[in-house]
Amino acid sequence: MSLLSTRRDGFATALSMSKDGPSAYALEVNQALLKEDDDLLRQTFLSVFRHHHPQLANKVDVIFALSQAWCMSESDDDFDMLVKRLETLKPDEHILVASAFSQLLNLHNLTEEIVTARVEKAARLGEVEQSTRSTNKSLERLVNELGQNPEDIFKALCRQRVDIVFTAHPTQAIRQSLLKKYQKIRSEMDALHNTRMTPYERLECLDEIKSQIQAAWRTDEIRRKKPTPQDESRQGLSYFHDTIFHGLPVFLRRIDTALKNIGQPMLPLDTKLFNFGAWMGGDRDGNPFVTAATTRDVVLGARLSATMLLQSQISRLVYELSVWRASDELTAAAARILEARKDGLYAHTTRESYETEFGSVREPFRVVLSEIRERLNSTSTTLRYLMSHPHLNVKETLDNDPGAYSDAEAIITPLMLCYDSLVATGDSTIAFSELTDVIRQAQTFGLHLCQLDIRQESTKHAEAIDAITTYLGLGSFNAWDEAQRTAFLLKELEERRPLLPADLPMSEEVADVIGTFKMLATLPSDSLGAYIISMAHTASDVLAVLLLQKECGIRETLRVVPLFETLDDLEYAETAMEQLFGNAWYHAHIAGAQECMIGYSDSGKDAGRLAAAWGLYEVQERLAAVAAKYDVHLTLFHGRGGTVGRGGGPAHLAILSQPPKTISGTLRVTVQGEVMEQQFGEKEIAFRTMDLYTSAVLEATLAPMEEPQAVWREAMREMSRTSCEAYRAVVRHDPRFIEYFQTLTPVNELGRMNIGSRPAKRKAHGSIDTLRAIPWIFAWTQIRFHLPVWLGMGQALRAMIDAGKLELLQDMYQNWMFFRVTLDMLEMVFAKADPRVVTMYQRQLVDAGLHALGDELLRTFYEAEELVLKVMKHKGLLSSSSTAFLQQKLQLRAPYVAPLNILQVYCLKTIRDIEAGKEVDESGYNPVPAAVALMSRDPEKTPFVGAVEDTL
Ligand code: PGA
Repeated sequence: MSLLSTRRDGFATALSMSKDGPSAYALEVNQALLKEDDDLLRQTFLSVFRHHHPQLANKVDVIFALSQAWCMSESDDDFDMLVKRLETLKPDEHILVASAFSQLLNLHNLTEEIVTARVEKAARLGEVEQSTRSTNKSLERLVNELGQNPEDIFKALCRQRVDIVFTAHPTQAIRQSLLKKYQKIRSEMDALHNTRMTPYERLECLDEIKSQIQAAWRTDEIRRKKPTPQDESRQGLSYFHDTIFHGLPVFLRRIDTALKNIGQPMLPLDTKLFNFGAWMGGDRDGNPFVTAATTRDVVLGARLSATMLLQSQISRLVYELSVWRASDELTAAAARILEARKDGLYAHTTRESYETEFGSVREPFRVVLSEIRERLNSTSTTLRYLMSHPHLNVKETLDNDPGAYSDAEAIITPLMLCYDSLVATGDSTIAFSELTDVIRQAQTFGLHLCQLDIRQESTKHAEAIDAITTYLGLGSFNAWDEAQRTAFLLKELEERRPLLPADLPMSEEVADVIGTFKMLATLPSDSLGAYIISMAHTASDVLAVLLLQKECGIRETLRVVPLFETLDDLEYAETAMEQLFGNAWYHAHIAGAQECMIGYSDSGKDAGRLAAAWGLYEVQERLAAVAAKYDVHLTLFHGRGGTVGRGGGPAHLAILSQPPKTISGTLRVTVQGEVMEQQFGEKEIAFRTMDLYTSAVLEATLAPMEEPQAVWREAMREMSRTSCEAYRAVVRHDPRFIEYFQTLTPVNELGRMNIGSRPAKRKAHGSIDTLRAIPWIFAWTQIRFHLPVWLGMGQALRAMIDAGKLELLQDMYQNWMFFRVTLDMLEMVFAKADPRVVTMYQRQLVDAGLHALGDELLRTFYEAEELVLKVMKHKGLLSSSSTAFLQQKLQLRAPYVAPLNILQVYCLKTIRDIEAGKEVDESGYNPVPAAVALMSRDPEKTPFVGAVEDTL
């Protein structure tokens, strides 16, 4: 088989996975299941609501029916009826009705997750046809269709590494207290569908669902105070306790089975297919609440979690492994432990009590394992002590405590001794059971659980170096050009004498930067991941961080990762990296490996989605080429959110549509905000997430897609230019735009919500430039316009079509994964957008003088939609069979969303009228918290919860 046909087959299969979707039969099953679950949860909620608010329940029924009627008919009359009905609500009823719809919407989103999990399961059981991507299928395809050697596949898998990094991004609007209840409902629904139940058990299950729904209804939906970064870390870590820690070894077993199917051995026990990272409490970019002390706290919290999780696993093993036959090595190790105990290493334990509790030399496994358990116990005591003594050096304290563990190897070694002993004495079956899982957990999660990345903006490091050079009379670092800066930093990096004066006068900001580095020097290095520089532009940005690490005494330096975010920075990234790789000191320092991060949201905010997508595509190719030139292994770290505006999309398609050969066995990705719940909130979903990443990275490594044709690239360059100009002409250069944006959307009100610990803007005052990318996207999503995703697209396609290139575009859509995914995502966004809703926001909230701009934008929206469909050759939005299920899901979801949009407009209008000093009927409620409350209900972001899952 020729290479070309291999690649084409790869594309065809990837395409069939993405586009064929479920068969007609599966579709019918999906639809029926979704409807059934949706009805059950809605009826249960309404019975709870009726119990508490009998006089309002009928109104909610009527509003839902009107909303359904409008969503089906799409007629203006039906919309007006719905608006009128909502307008007649008394002010104090607004909040209750909004709460009711918010709960209904959350429950509806739950049914989508439940059905997806059910269909997945049914597909695995062979009950329905479903083109499910999985590692098992990838292995089969690589061997049977592409003729690859199974041993090579095995080796590639052993080397493969996907880093999943949980960030604290403020995009999970739903409180943990509610998420936990929804998780419970999901698992009861799962039991209802999958377990053979007696009528009594069924009733108990339904009662439990009702009780959780009622508890959710009676729980305050709104975070009344801002979460601290520590709160965010605790929330993030809860996924390790709930699904990841126990799910990972089960997932690895599935990979073992898949390997067995192609005649290969199980994965070696030290293979780390996944590495987990976190930003919660480490990402200080624009977040003044993340201090050095915060970072110390979250590192200790994660270590304590890892210790406790391991402790409970080891305790189970102590009881499991009552085996007496053992290798000489294990017997000797057990004897040594008992001897040491006798000598009173642990003074409180006598040999007799120890033997009774922990086994005797006749049960050597128990002796060795209980020693581990004992030390883990001491470790958690020490960690707790460190938590309440913030002045202590964590690393030194752990290193100097003989009872505590400071290094995971010290646990893995005795566990391997047990494993080898079982294998040597003919008890491999026992070795391959729970012990294997625990060894794999210790390998992946160690004593750190997840590695904390640190992130800070480039200018902050430059300020710190500037403070030093100015104080030492060397001049102002900030005033030097790039060549002077780089020369200075490299010289100082090679210098032995310290540069940082002990008495350096520091501004608060500089003290924070230096304080952070000093704190990092006191933390165990296995707890730390990368040091990310946001808004990185040049080589000196990277060198500055290396120098600060050296000067602050960090011995095992964190790898420094530039994050390229704006279009200009993406274009310059290759030059910056070439300067670094070309320097002998730097090249030796990185020892052949470099990580670079690319930011999807900020590039989109800067240039519009299409230009950003192409800029990101090209920068990956250029970075891969420059790394290859200097013989450096490059890992790309993709900073994407869940929604399309923030680079979100189906994980496997996102990977397969990257430029060929830019993924070679390693990948890092962020999992942000609401995506954590989407991808790791439930056991089966967590497996599926890990499976998708594993299979996609393996295929991208072993069977990369075909290079795009030169004429496709040229077309993309042209469209990228046109779309960027059109986007910036509005967003940057139209003098009416900022006011239009600020009045049409709730962007200013969003800042009052307590979604995350981070402020919405980098600087307190300022324009769109200082606004973070998340509220920028969020604001457009709330009103269902999604402007940053499509603005510029219509002009770009129009120019191509006018130049007679429609067929070329259609060819690109048919045969190029990158372009196909780009348009597929746009189609989904158009289907979720609603210009009628946008018009309502405009009519109610925007000054009449700005309506002309809004109308122009709406025309641009319609044109972009029409042209996208023309290139895709689709008759209407989501009209192809592959998107039929998504279409059904959107139809079922829509009636829950529309009333929330209308109520949000009402509240925004009221709150703004009050702030403008106008007379407002406030009887019965305070519109300010009500408006904020409505936004917490997040009318359009919540449907996007579905979007992430739709696209997985
Ligand atoms: P950032 O993230 O602003 O923290 O870089 C943007 C995003 O996640 O969308």
